[in-house]
Amino acid sequence: MKYGKFITLGIETSCDETSIAVVAEGREILSNVISSQIDIHTKFGGVVPEIASRHHLQDINGAIEDAMKEADVDFADIDLIGVTNGPGLIGALVIGVATAKALSFATGIPLVGVNHMHGHISANYLQYAELKPPFLTLIVSGGHTNLVYITDYNKCEVIGGTRDDAVGETYDKVARVMGLGYPGGPKVDRAAKDGNPDAIEFKRVMLEKNSFDFSFSGLKTQVLNHVNREKMAKKDLYIPDVCASFQQSVTDVLVEKTMRAAAKYETDRIAVAGGVAANSALRDALEKRCREKNIKLYLPKPVLCTDNGAMIGSAAYYQYKAQGADDLFLDAHAGLPF
Ligand code: KG4
Ligand code: ZN
Repeated sequence: MKYGKFITLGIETSCDETSIAVVAEGREILSNVISSQIDIHTKFGGVVPEIASRHHLQDINGAIEDAMKEADVDFADIDLIGVTNGPGLIGALVIGVATAKALSFATGIPLVGVNHMHGHISANYLQYAELKPPFLTLIVSGGHTNLVYITDYNKCEVIGGTRDDAVGETYDKVARVMGLGYPGGPKVDRAAKDGNPDAIEFKRVMLEKNSFDFSFSGLKTQVLNHVNREKMAKKDLYIPDVCASFQQSVTDVLVEKTMRAAAKYETDRIAVAGGVAANSALRDALEKRCREKNIKLYLPKPVLCTDNGAMIGSAAYYQYKAQGADDLFLDAHAGLPF
């Protein structure tokens, strides 16, 4: 406790960000240190798991010290340690989980393992003090595309998911074929600003009527074929047009399915989560549609959309209040389900 508040240390190492945060009462960020490895992995065109693990190992102790110093807390003030234990890269997750267990063992502070996707959803609690379940969430990240109805802080109903490529993965692959580099999402987003979203007719895959699942692999193939065809015909490929048209297709599907789910669940609150929630076209389109339908939209600022320790600290707080602590047998699971 510090200033009479419950303090959580949040640890996130599921991919290429070593992030440590100190969160008060599950809602207030006292510090959120993010040590990104993007510059390192950019050279390889994507995250190299072995290199990610090594850098987590190198950076994690310093990040913990920095986060605690910035929040002005010591271990005596910390009531809970929350750590991402899946899904993610196994070697990367293990560094966070082993560190959290060592700290818990040495200090006696209780420990909980947090599902990374619950973390992304909880980013909304950090930005919006008034947000409480129930509400609908659209999760759009590198590995997930989900529509989830949140019934309570620790209960949810997954109403749709990825059948093939997740939306962030699709952005990254499309960016790679156009030589835009890694991570592709922000680069496509930026290039699309100079392009015409109606320049190329890419398909909108809605799947079966009433389905809330997503499929982006057909769209990915269509974009790759278009780029290769233009290159072979020695035509000048105007990359901003390809980016804008691709992005419009993705946005149309995500927004349409989200609005349909909101109607079905009769909710007037939609929260967005995950790295792709930083996408400017998606944010604009959701804002417009929600305004028209009188739905309150919760859109975390970009730093809370990407992987960060604060979202794990928030999720850990609510999980601990409802279910208590985990023991030191806590393990990392690459494919941890919702
Ligand atoms: O949630 P996140 O940081 O990591 C996972 O849990 O997967 O999401 C990373 C994904 C990457 O695929 C990245 O390209 C994408 O989010 N992304 C974006 C944008 N910023 C990040 N995609 C589209 N537009 C953006 N502005
Ligand atoms: Zn993530």
